[in-house]
Amino acid sequence: MKIGILISGRGSNMVALVDAVKSGEIPASEVAVVISDNADASGLDRAKERGIEAFAIERKGRTREEHDAEIVAVLRERGVELVCLAGYMRLLSPLFVQAFPGRIVNIHPSLLPAYPGLHVHERVIAAGETRSGCTVHFVDELLDHGPIILQREVPVLPDDTPETLAARILEQEHPTYIEAVKKIVLATENTG
Ligand code: GRF
Repeated sequence: MKIGILISGRGSNMVALVDAVKSGEIPASEVAVVISDNADASGLDRAKERGIEAFAIERKGRTREEHDAEIVAVLRERGVELVCLAGYMRLLSPLFVQAFPGRIVNIHPSLLPAYPGLHVHERVIAAGETRSGCTVHFVDELLDHGPIILQREVPVLPDDTPETLAARILEQEHPTYIEAVKKIVLATENTG
């Protein structure tokens, strides 16, 4: 399975996936390319250090569709079959979603369908929730929405700040994303 990963920032989930592919924990796969919409994303260097082709495709005043079309063209050129969003801070246009039907996944740091969007941890704490977590899901045209593949729960502690809660969830995000991608790869192999 040729995987393309989209990032916007530090890329810790991307690193977890790249390392799991390299170690064989995610079998029969290759990370073909890492693309960022932001040239300053520190994740780009972390991908390159691991020998993965990585570069930015910035929007630069173009429409969302034009930007997405360029990314889709690069992914197709590299033969990408599964697109993993890993801290990619843009909503995909219908053009992008339709280019890879059922082949785009995302990780979000809440128990979807609760708390889609930004500032998740602040909102979870303000609402007095006692549990939160992370979700890996297939991507459709709505924000942080689509069929759920895997979720993992963590407690919200009484003295949590958004930072401490984010760190507790991030620790779970990495193994959850690896497990979800592994599940997709194995399911695809079985159906040919
Ligand atoms: C993660 O919390 C992810 O769930 C969210 O953005 C954050 C990205 O972190 N979508 P990283 O860039 O993978 O370290």
